[in-house]
Amino acid sequence: MNKDLRSFLAECRQMGPQFFASVSRTVDPIHEPCVIQQKLAAANRYPVIRFENTKGSDMPMATNLFGSYELLGLALGLSPDQPKGEILQRFRERVEKPLPTIEVPRDKAPVKEIIIQKDDVDLSQFPIIKHAEGNSGKYITVGCLVIRDPDTGVLNAGMYRHEIKGKNRFACMFNPAHHAAYIYRRYKEMNQAMEAVLFIGHHPAAVMGALARGPIESNEFEIMGALMGESLEVVPAETVNLPVPAWAEIAIEGILDPNEETADGPFSEYTGFYGPSKDPVGLMKITAITTRRDPIYHDLDPSHREHNLAGVLTFESSIFDTVSKLVPSVTGVYLPPSGSCVFTAYVKIKKRVPGEGKSAGMAALAAEPNLKIAIVLDDDIDFYNEEQVLWAIATHMEGDRDLAMIPYAMGAHLNPSAYGEVRTEKGPMNTKIVIDATRPSTLPFADRIQPPQKAWDRIRLEDYLDET
Ligand SMILES: Cc1cc2nc3c(=O)[nH]c(=O)nc-3n(C[C@H](O)[C@H](O)[C@H](O)COP(=O)(O)O)c2cc1C
Repeated sequence: MNKDLRSFLAECRQMGPQFFASVSRTVDPIHEPCVIQQKLAAANRYPVIRFENTKGSDMPMATNLFGSYELLGLALGLSPDQPKGEILQRFRERVEKPLPTIEVPRDKAPVKEIIIQKDDVDLSQFPIIKHAEGNSGKYITVGCLVIRDPDTGVLNAGMYRHEIKGKNRFACMFNPAHHAAYIYRRYKEMNQAMEAVLFIGHHPAAVMGALARGPIESNEFEIMGALMGESLEVVPAETVNLPVPAWAEIAIEGILDPNEETADGPFSEYTGFYGPSKDPVGLMKITAITTRRDPIYHDLDPSHREHNLAGVLTFESSIFDTVSKLVPSVTGVYLPPSGSCVFTAYVKIKKRVPGEGKSAGMAALAAEPNLKIAIVLDDDIDFYNEEQVLWAIATHMEGDRDLAMIPYAMGAHLNPSAYGEVRTEKGPMNTKIVIDATRPSTLPFADRIQPPQKAWDRIRLEDYLDET
């Protein structure tokens, strides 16, 4: 038996209210689940939320599975009392060891408990959400689409948004730089329909595997298994020649005809802003839906921090690897939600050589095109505490010496400040900056005050504070 969405929800429930909240009252799929999630966030709470009843559907729904860094650790089998830095290291260890999939018979695959085909297909059975007022419609935001490269036969899985276009069709928005877009373009060139399966609801470590960055030849199913710590069990789809994770909640099978496309957007993007509207995108026509007997739908609020956290370990891991090639003394990388995760990186080094700070920052910027700001810190700064990061910048750094700027570099077109070759036009470029907030390595610098160690270890607050 594979780990699955339910095993993770049960684990979160057991961990208590920091990790799990449930809502039995009926919610409206128009905005309400997102507002509840956003109100919890405003109170600094980021639990997984299970909604039992959504108007118009009798299916429960889970959201905010990637709501906090601690939840990512839990998904990778780490308890919240382990140091946060372990989370990235656990991810790096696991992702390096892909596990082959195991095919199971249909009767051992819960995703085959219910099979719906042809005219019975109706997406309105799912509690699909309209996330923001300006969105063009309802979107599936956290499904994983499985397709096959027609040239190599290698499977590709990735997460793309899907605007609902009727009871048996939805849009597929592939960023032109992503593997799915390369593969879809090949089918277009060959004038052939592309088979696809969208699976929804699995263990979050498996979902993170679909977001892994690797060469187009790498099989993301094997990374999903690696991240779960056990091989992914799969079963053949009903109407297309593709495998489906056997322990998924829902699998939607279909065909994308390259001659029949649709439009997508505006959509509430991960930047916190609405993106472009009415861009042409692929259209998937559904041939079958298979589900578990009592499926749980998985949703994600796309303009909430859980979107950015879902893929953050992949980005941190690739930045760590690139920086370590140039600056082996790198000890940690963190992409904080306050910087939209992928636009800002904190990089920690044990500085030994003058200039290492700038080198580490430049390597970080080179590792990830979306990254706009690299802040390099000494190893003794707790970069999960932004007060310490700002303190390090304020006390270590001088702008004329420690700031480097690279204008007109390839960046993120969705970042609303991005520009084109004509500066006043929109485009995919950003001005990148490195903030080297490390102390000098060979010159004396002021001594940092630390609490006296013996007294710190000896004093227990409960022995000193008067009871109130
Ligand atoms: C919540 C979420 C939504 C995403 N939506 C999209 C999307 O609509 N289109 C897209 O191309 N990438 C999207 N991404 C990013 C891709 O899933 C990710 O980069 C993946 O690695 C791409 O895989 P591929 O290169 O194999 O196609 C999304 C990521 C997350 C976490």
